Amino acid sequence: MAVTNTKKTVRSFRTMKKNGEKIVMITAYDAPTASFAEAAGVDLILVGDSVGMSALGFQETIPVTLDMMIHHSAAVRRGAPNTFIVGDMPFLVCHLGIENGLRAAGRFIQEAGCDAVKLECTPSTRPLICAMIEAGIPVMGHIGLLPQSVKTSGGYRVNGRTQDEAEALMNAALDLESAGVFSTVLECVPAAVAQRISEKLVIPTIGIGAGAGCDGQVQVICDLLGYNEGFLPKHARRYCHIGEVAIQAMTEYKNDVKAGTFPTDAQSF
Ligand code: KIV
Repeated sequence: MAVTNTKKTVRSFRTMKKNGEKIVMITAYDAPTASFAEAAGVDLILVGDSVGMSALGFQETIPVTLDMMIHHSAAVRRGAPNTFIVGDMPFLVCHLGIENGLRAAGRFIQEAGCDAVKLECTPSTRPLICAMIEAGIPVMGHIGLLPQSVKTSGGYRVNGRTQDEAEALMNAALDLESAGVFSTVLECVPAAVAQRISEKLVIPTIGIGAGAGCDGQVQVICDLLGYNEGFLPKHARRYCHIGEVAIQAMTEYKNDVKAGTFPTDAQSF
C-alpha cells in the first residue's frame, strides 16, 4: 500500500525528536529504489557513498567520486520527488579547502536537487560545516565509525568503547550541534553511549549500529532487501531476499527463451 508522503524539512526532524517520534532513513542509489522508499513513507533518503559497495562493485567507499555521487543523487531525486534527500560528501572532498568543499556541496543541492549534505566529521571539518550552513546548505554530521578514514584508523571497529573515546564522541556531537548541523549520524557506537548523546542533544541522532536509544535509524538498502545473501553486518536486519527472487525470475526467463516459450504472441507485434 502506497503511503502519502509530505516532504519533511530540517524543522520536521527536530519536532519529531521533541515528540518522541522515531525518524526513519534508508539509503538509495537509483530512481526505482528511491520511488519504493518514498512509497513506503520513509522520512529521509540518504544517497550514501555506500553506493561504492552496494551498487558499484567496490570493496570500500574510498573510490567513490563526487561525479558518481551527483549522478546517483540526481537519479534518487527523480525517483522520490517528495522525500527529503541527503547527499553524502565522498572521500577527500571535505579536506581540500573550504571553497572546494562548498562547491561540492553546492553541486548536491543545485545539480542533484538534494535537500542537505552529510559528511564524515573530524575536528578539521568544522570550518567547512559552518561555511556550508552560512551558505544555506543544511548539513547532517556523521561521527563514530568513519568508513572514509579506515585506512588511518586501522579498520572497521566500534568507536566509543573506552571512556576517553566515549567522551570524545560526546564532545564531537555537542560541537556539531553548536556548529549548526540539523542532525547527526552515529555509526557503530555502543548503545549506552549513543543513548547518552541522544539525550544530551537537541538535534536528532540517526543511528546505525548505535542501539535503540537514537532518535532515528538508518539502514543500507542492500542489507535490508537481501541483495547479497552472504555477509550481513551485525547492525543490519534482512527484511526480504530480493536476490533470491531476482535469480529465480532470471532463471525462469532464461529457461523460457531456451525452450522457445518466450516470447509468445502476447509479447509480439
Ligand atoms: O554511506 C552510507 O550509506 C552511510 C550510512 C551507513 C550512514 O554513510
